[in-house]
Amino acid sequence: MKNFITTENWSKNELQDILDYAKDLKINRFQKTLKNKSIGLLFFNPSMRTRTSFEIGIKELGGFAVVLQPGKDAWPIEFKLNSIMDNDTEEHIIEVAKVLSEYCDLIAIRAFPKFQNLEEDFSDNLINSFAKYSSVPVVNMETITHPCQELAHILTMQENLGDLTGKDYLLTWTYHPKPLNTAVANSSLLIASKFGMNIKLLCPSEKYILHEKYITAAKQNCKSNNMSFEITHDIDYGYAYADIVYAKSWGSLSFYGNPEEEKIIRDDYKHFIVDGHKMSKTNNALFSHCLPLRRNIKATDEVMDANYCVAIQEAGNRMHVQKSMLSTLLKEK
Ligand code: CP
Repeated sequence: MKNFITTENWSKNELQDILDYAKDLKINRFQKTLKNKSIGLLFFNPSMRTRTSFEIGIKELGGFAVVLQPGKDAWPIEFKLNSIMDNDTEEHIIEVAKVLSEYCDLIAIRAFPKFQNLEEDFSDNLINSFAKYSSVPVVNMETITHPCQELAHILTMQENLGDLTGKDYLLTWTYHPKPLNTAVANSSLLIASKFGMNIKLLCPSEKYILHEKYITAAKQNCKSNNMSFEITHDIDYGYAYADIVYAKSWGSLSFYGNPEEEKIIRDDYKHFIVDGHKMSKTNNALFSHCLPLRRNIKATDEVMDANYCVAIQEAGNRMHVQKSMLSTLLKEK
């Protein structure tokens, strides 16, 4: 039984098979690959794209989705082992995962990092606990990475550029008034490096470099593909000759748990907004973002409305890649 928690333990060929079937499903939308399958979608955080695309996608394949929001319409869950549960939680992950496995053929989880304890957040304990105690496959709908977004991102790039090997890929930090989690940025490095691109990570200072775990994984992928991996704080150098510009905002790991302190330095970097002038320095690059996106904060109207912006196509592809990935997991079960 295989989970889809991170793409790190999926080979490029396995991921390409999912992408290829997603291309078929985009044309032949209604299939029966999830007939009589019930899928639990657990949201610990809000969503627009993920919830809609999973619910509709499952229905289009003949399956049934039940959406639960623990702490809102389902009991709050305890994740600490050997906990004396005298706080606000009503049941333990051990029972939750086992009971849901009695009803569901697959469990999908969205649980963002809490941005309080770096080590705890990067251990991805919540979804790993579901994987440990469930007897059905577990899927990541965004925790410390966002593997479903990775698949949609790569499918969109392939649809527009064909083979991605050797393309110049820029992941740029953008400003946002709040410190956002690093999931999509981590995922961007993992998947772009796995699919054989030269990578530049552009961020305002050393304080905004992503977690060592993902930098190391991306460097290793680039090395084994004979591609380059660079970190830069120079905006002109970052954009130069890029074929793909992917933008994301994230909070500094140096100020983890101290959003007020970080805000003082972050507010100096509003000029990292993606605009037409920066895009003009690229090799006619595609621009994308996972969405949601604050216009004229992260990217200008000019960029979002340009023909080179493929963010809507990427959001649309979420449904096709997820349908393909769910069919693959439940076929292998
Ligand atoms: N990109 C993405 O996951 O969007 P939602 O947060 O709306 O699900």
